[in-house]
Amino acid sequence: MDLVIKNISVLATAKGKSVQRGIEQGNIETRENMAIGILDKKIAYIGKEQEAPIGAKEIDAGGRLVTPGLVDAHTHLVFGGYRQNELERKLRGDSYLDILRSGGGILSTVNSTRAAGFEELQTKAESFLDKMLAHGTTTVEAKSGYGLDMETEIKQLQVVKALNESHKMDIVSTFMGAHAIPNEYKDNPEGFVDFIINEMIPHVAKEKLAKYCDIFCETAVFDVSQSRRILTAAKEQGFKVKIHADEIDPIGGASLAGELQCISAEHLIAAPDEGLDELAKNGVIAVLLPATSHYLNKDYARAKEMIKRGIPIAVASDFNPGSSPNFNLQVAMSLSCLKYKLTPKEALMAVTLNGACAIEMQETKGTIEIGKDADIVIWDCPDLNFLFYRFGNNQVHTVIKNGRIVL
Ligand code: NIG
Ligand code: FE
Repeated sequence: MDLVIKNISVLATAKGKSVQRGIEQGNIETRENMAIGILDKKIAYIGKEQEAPIGAKEIDAGGRLVTPGLVDAHTHLVFGGYRQNELERKLRGDSYLDILRSGGGILSTVNSTRAAGFEELQTKAESFLDKMLAHGTTTVEAKSGYGLDMETEIKQLQVVKALNESHKMDIVSTFMGAHAIPNEYKDNPEGFVDFIINEMIPHVAKEKLAKYCDIFCETAVFDVSQSRRILTAAKEQGFKVKIHADEIDPIGGASLAGELQCISAEHLIAAPDEGLDELAKNGVIAVLLPATSHYLNKDYARAKEMIKRGIPIAVASDFNPGSSPNFNLQVAMSLSCLKYKLTPKEALMAVTLNGACAIEMQETKGTIEIGKDADIVIWDCPDLNFLFYRFGNNQVHTVIKNGRIVL
């Protein structure tokens, strides 16, 4: 073996390559006194400590918890500037949509991202990726959507492509040109929808710059019929589709996600029962973002109700400069326990196997099993409950990415 991890107190992992729903959401196996062997970047041995093979290199986990590397299935990784100037407006009571309507919010980040050069964006996103890895995230999804014009959307997607090649992190790319209506189209939103459908989607498809297409279906952004048009066009051009649905107002986004058989629906804070029925019926994964609820002072999505209805749940950071300026997925994990009332096992599923399924990386990611990629975290925790019980500090001890110790 190239690398053997010994003296693992608890190995906690899901099994297999399929999304887990309902009672299966908590299907995490915990085994004690284990060792893991890695060969050619893959997991090659899992078994009792006493029978562990010899490794060219060996790590003593020191009686700590080991889990799969975390999968963060929803981020807006590449952006120019920050939005700290909006904090005081927010404290005075302006809502997220008030700030957006007045030309701030996403539109402010659009200005900064248009103004930023390729290398500036790349260097900034690269440092986020370094820090994410240091917090236990080993696979990440990244959306565009701070360009809202051809040039800048492509620039963002090219940054992701370059980073996926150069950085240790595995990155899955999503085109989200339909993130807001840019100022140029303020009085002609249908014209922007046409531009996305006729120009942007075909170009991104031709250049193979994204696997998914996503849209912000929300009051004052894209309504259900515009969202249906855009996502249908995206599907026709070969994209799988995702949707920011019923985050703030229940306008029918979750139902649309079911109708279009989206791979995932995101946020869902305000999703009504009929929306949840459509998600369940069509096997859509709910990607829940509790750090955003926290940061926007909103309600929390009805995660337990979703589990009861058989909707598979993933949990992600939603890292972005506005509604969730935090890339530490451990924060979302903690909130998903305390606020959604997920058990530690259900929450671990949400950031490992189900997160991987939400970006279709489950063949190689999301569990510690023979043949899968060796993306592994050793936590400074004696057991799984401890990981969810502590709060606010980085609990990572060691991160192994594709078989190599990176931290
Ligand atoms: O998922 N809701 C829309 N998009 C992002 C926020 C983007 C921003 O505020 O910059 C989200 O929360
Ligand atoms: Fe988002």
